[in-house]
Amino acid sequence: MDRIVITGGNRLRGEVRISGAKNSALPILASTILGGGECVITNVPRVADVLTMGKLLGIFGATVSHEGNRAVIKADIINSTEAPYDLVKTMRASVLTLGPLVARWGEAKVSLPGGCAIGSRPVNLHLAGLAKLGADISLEHGYITAKAKRLKGARIYCDTPTVTGTENLMMAASLAEGTTVLENAAKEPEIVDLADFLCKRGARIEGAGTDVLTIEGVRELQGGEHEVIPDRIEAGTFLAAGAMTRGDVTITHCRPAHLEAILMKLREAGAEVSVEKERVRITAPKRLKGTDIRTLPYPGFPTDMQAQMAALMCLAEGTSIVTETVFESRFMHVEELRRMGADIRVEGNRLVVTGRRSLTGAPVMASDLRASAGLILAGLAADGMTEVQRVYHLDRGYERIEEKLRALGAKIERQKPSAATVR
Ligand code: EPZ
Repeated sequence: MDRIVITGGNRLRGEVRISGAKNSALPILASTILGGGECVITNVPRVADVLTMGKLLGIFGATVSHEGNRAVIKADIINSTEAPYDLVKTMRASVLTLGPLVARWGEAKVSLPGGCAIGSRPVNLHLAGLAKLGADISLEHGYITAKAKRLKGARIYCDTPTVTGTENLMMAASLAEGTTVLENAAKEPEIVDLADFLCKRGARIEGAGTDVLTIEGVRELQGGEHEVIPDRIEAGTFLAAGAMTRGDVTITHCRPAHLEAILMKLREAGAEVSVEKERVRITAPKRLKGTDIRTLPYPGFPTDMQAQMAALMCLAEGTSIVTETVFESRFMHVEELRRMGADIRVEGNRLVVTGRRSLTGAPVMASDLRASAGLILAGLAADGMTEVQRVYHLDRGYERIEEKLRALGAKIERQKPSAATVR
């Protein structure tokens, strides 16, 4: 397994281009199943999860070509409607194929995703919504089976605003007969991006970005072209890196309107942030100040930035309380940060962080995508060398992160396991 080795202490300086959003590319790629026309998607990040989604579409029988950051998909014929466990266990977002498959082909068999490092990750709301649309849902041998002659529009209330649940149901309802109203829908920018792409292809969706979606079902969707929005979590991660190393970093090709909560918290911590069209510049001349964070569904502070901000608070002056309200156990980075000398402890669903003047580099273990990002950030600011192991977690959601950081002046490299140390 690859690892990333960082020698901390360099102040990051320069510009970094933000890639397309993984969490927008995934539902957009899944939605290509909904029609037979050619779909051309640009600004697609080359990250493991997106490549896995392309593989899954190929297993269904779609033709998929993914050159650079451009993907061309044609799903006019499908010869399988089964998403196998071996693939789903590597990428929970495979569940996003459930709605499109049953909506267009009348059946789907998708392995239950199972839990992951950050929580149990149930999909009960996805299934309850599909059942409301008339699908027969059964769970057997670890697989979800959904069947329906043709889905019928319905009024659905989601107990909690679920991002992929909203996406799954919006895609399914776009081909259902009649009108669907989805209440307490999630409002993330990735949902708006998916709705924009579906509407370009003939879907009739209103209210994306609000908590009430109205979808008028149509018989079929055409192909279409779409550019994926920038990744707001990658953007936040690089801004935190610039602030933590007391550098001067400008991120480009980003969407500042999606970063409001993140920018507000970085400013509250004492960073200087200037915004100009698709560019955001951050400097942190003085030591940052501790500030409290509470993760919430969009437009609240994103849970996907919790680990990165926890790492930043480990070096800030004073005590910070980080409250995680979205997932039940998204604190896998804490023990690893303590190995680096951080004064951080878990109290229920909160972290209590007392900033230190410095952290010390250490060998640490990545456990999930965003925890790994938090450890990379800590390594950039720590004294000495940090070795982050199991970086395949990082590769799921960050495109060429060590190259981008090296271009900003970080002393960072990826090491392949040598024969001697393979374990
Ligand atoms: C999406 O996951 C993202 N993944 C996650 O990003 C992100 O952390 C999360 O939204 C929250 O913003 C993708 O978009 C591919 P949820 P998702 O359904 O949709 C509960 C990353 O790092 N819930 O919005 O799985 C659930 O347990 C990943 O890029 C149910 O109870 O999250 C959680 O407490 C990690 N039943 C809450 O809702 C359901 O059927 C929000 O989860 C569905 C969800």
